[in-house]
Amino acid sequence: MTSAVRPARQPGAAGLFITFEGPDGSGKTTQVQQIAVRLRQQGYDVLLTREPGGTTIGDQIRHILHDLKNQAMHPRTELLLFNASRAQLVEEVIRPHLARGGLVICDRFYDSTLAYQGYGHGLDLDMLRRIITAATGGLRPDLTVYLDIAPEDGLQRRLSAVARGEEWNRLDDMAMAFHRRVREGYHQLIAAEPDRWASIDAAQPVAKVQADILAALRSRLGLALDPASPG
Ligand code: TYD
Repeated sequence: MTSAVRPARQPGAAGLFITFEGPDGSGKTTQVQQIAVRLRQQGYDVLLTREPGGTTIGDQIRHILHDLKNQAMHPRTELLLFNASRAQLVEEVIRPHLARGGLVICDRFYDSTLAYQGYGHGLDLDMLRRIITAATGGLRPDLTVYLDIAPEDGLQRRLSAVARGEEWNRLDDMAMAFHRRVREGYHQLIAAEPDRWASIDAAQPVAKVQADILAALRSRLGLALDPASPG
């Protein structure tokens, strides 16, 4: 068990914003849901949301982004749609919950834009940062949990999920070389800002990945989380 470097942050303290990132197929969405349950069990006022989407307007934008018919979508169009969804989510959902002292968990946030549209599609990173700042009004996560997985393993997981009935979307359809650039991009983002990130090996069994995430939330944010409580 990792020892806390800060005193335990009690439920009801000032708002806290945690984002989760990772290549496709990192198991992020399952983990995020389980972590939200654990935090709620400990009494935290957790709002769980995701990008793209999380609002009525954002969910409509998500549909356009995922639609396999939209193969002609230009990377700049994609960029602006992701950020349109983000602007709505920040104003309508994230900021109000943080202002009430709540804890917000977001499944993807602006680092996905830097990794996918920046490193993946090669759009200029400074231009992306300006657009992101316009969309978020400068809001930054307190901690970003990164679930790391090789693109080949991530693809295998996505194919299994699709076999179980999940949708295969336009963004899954990108070439393997694209997914390699995305992962390398994440590694560069982490290297540039190590204090904001907690990087976790997502190729481990699901329970071990969850234990590592809980340990990171305890040690990096001082969250009061009992490692032995049922998940
Ligand atoms: P989603 O179905 O939410 O996948 P995941 O479970 O992997 O989060 O699809 C999100 C896809 O959109 C994913 O491939 C990452 C991509 N994306 C971007 O390219 N840029 C962004 O800014 C965001 C938020 C997501």
